Amino acid sequence: MTKRYAIILAAGQGTRMKSKLYKVLHPILGRPMIQHVIGNLRPLQLDKQITIVGFGADKVMEEVGNKSDFVVQEEQLGTAHAVQQAERLLKDKKGTTIVVCGDTPLITTETYEELFAYHEANNAKATILTTEVENPAGYGRIIRNENGKVERIVEHKDADKNELLVKEVNTGTYCFDNKALFAALQEVSNDNAQGEYYLPDVIEILQKSAERVEAFMTTDAEETMGINDRVALAQAEAAMKQRINELHMQNGVTIMDPANTYIGAEVTIEPDVVIFPGSVITGKTVIKSDSVIGPHTEITNCTIGEGTVIKQSVVTDSEIGNRVNIGPFAHIRPASTIGNNVKIGNFVEVKKAVFGDDSKASHLSYIGDANVGRNVNIGCGTITVNYDGKNKHLTTIEDDSFIGCNSNLVAPVTIGKGTYVAAGSTITMDVPEDSLAIARARQENKDGYAAKIRNRK
Ligand code: UD1
Ligand code: CA
Repeated sequence: MTKRYAIILAAGQGTRMKSKLYKVLHPILGRPMIQHVIGNLRPLQLDKQITIVGFGADKVMEEVGNKSDFVVQEEQLGTAHAVQQAERLLKDKKGTTIVVCGDTPLITTETYEELFAYHEANNAKATILTTEVENPAGYGRIIRNENGKVERIVEHKDADKNELLVKEVNTGTYCFDNKALFAALQEVSNDNAQGEYYLPDVIEILQKSAERVEAFMTTDAEETMGINDRVALAQAEAAMKQRINELHMQNGVTIMDPANTYIGAEVTIEPDVVIFPGSVITGKTVIKSDSVIGPHTEITNCTIGEGTVIKQSVVTDSEIGNRVNIGPFAHIRPASTIGNNVKIGNFVEVKKAVFGDDSKASHLSYIGDANVGRNVNIGCGTITVNYDGKNKHLTTIEDDSFIGCNSNLVAPVTIGKGTYVAAGSTITMDVPEDSLAIARARQENKDGYAAKIRNRK
C-alpha cells in the first residue's frame, strides 16, 4: 500500500480573529480547532503526521501533545513556505502527502479518505479538494481551461474581475505525490498581492510541467469552511453542533431542542437518554441509557450512570452512578465519585468527595474533601470545614450515619458508623460508632422574660 503522510498548517496567528488566543486553539464545542482536525485525520492511520507551528508554538504543541510531530516555521511567509518546513522530515519519502489547514475543522474523515482514494486511483501528482460556494469571497478560485482541466488557483486578492466570479474554491486541502510536492515547492515565488509563498501555486507549477493535476469536488461546502474570523467560528460551531446532535438522535437519544443543545465531538451517549434544552455536554463525557439531562445543565468530562437525572446543575470531571438525582442547582466539582441511588439536592456543592450508595445531601450543603459512606443522610446546611487557611483536610462519614441540620464537621474528623450528629453541632473531635454527638450550647429558657424586654425604655 502507498505510504501516507499529513502536514497540518497551524503556524499563522489568525489576525482576523482579533484575539490573544492563537487561531487553531479557539474551541469549537469545547475542543480546540486543531484537535478536531487531528481527530478527524486519526482514523486514517497515516504513517507520519507533521504539524507546522509558529505563532504560539509552545501552546499549540502542548495542546496536540504526542499526536503529531512538529516543525517550527519561524517566520510566516505563506502556506508554501510552511509546507517547506517539513522538507527535512519528508522530502525523500515515497508516498502521498495530504496537506490540511488547521482552520478547517469540519472536514470529515470520510472526505479525507475519498480525497486520498481519488488521488491515488488517478495516479495524480496533485489533487485539490474543491467545492462550490455561493459567496467565494476570501477563498482561492479554481481556474480550469476550456477542457475543464484545472490549470491553477488564484487567490482572492490576486484575482481579476472574471476570476472573482468563479464559485469553485480551494478548500486548502490537497493530496500530493510527496516527492513531486517538495520538488515543485522550490519553484514557488512570492510575487503576488500579499508577498507570500502560496502553496496553491504548486498546482500551476506541476500542471505546466505536464504532471497530472486533479480536483476532487465535494458537494458539502459547509464542511470545508475555513475559520478566519469569529463570524465563521460561530457558523462552524452551529454546523458542528447540528452534525453531532443529528448523529446522537439517529442513535436513539432524545434531544428536545437541538438548536439549544451543545454536545462535544468526543461525548458518548447511550440510547434513551433525554436531553432538555440549554445543556452543554463536553469533554470525554459518557452518559448511560435512560438518564435525563437538563434543562440548563453543564457536564464536562464525566461518566453518568444509567437512569440518572441531572437538572440545572454543573458537573465537572466526576463519576456519577446509576439512578442518581442531582439538582436543581447543584455543583459537583472535580474528582468526585457519586455512588448509586444518591441524591444531591438543591444548592449542594460537592468537591473531591466520595458518596457511597443510597446516601443523601438534599439541601444547602458543602461537602468537600470528604469520604461519605453508604446510606448516610446529610442534613440541610451541613458543612465540611475542610480548609484551615493553609491545608485541606479530610472528613470521613461512615455508613448509616445521620448528620443533623446546620452542622459543621471540622476536618480532619471521622464520624463513626451509625452515628447521629445533633443539629447545629460543630464537631471538632472524632465520633465513635453508634453514638450521638452533640456539640452546641445547652438551651436555657427564662420564664416571663419577654415582657421585661418589651417594657424596656
Ligand atoms: C488559504 C488558501 C486559499 C484557500 C483557503 C481555504 C493559500 C495562499 N490560500 O487561504 O486558496 O481557499 O486557505 O481555507 O494557501 N499558515 C501557516 N504559515 C503561514 C501561513 C499560513 O502555517 O506562513 C497556516 C495558517 O495557520 C492556517 C493555514 O495555513 O491554518 C491557512 O492560512 P490562512 O492565512 O488562513 O489562508 P487563507 O487566506 O484562508
Ligand atoms: Ca484560512
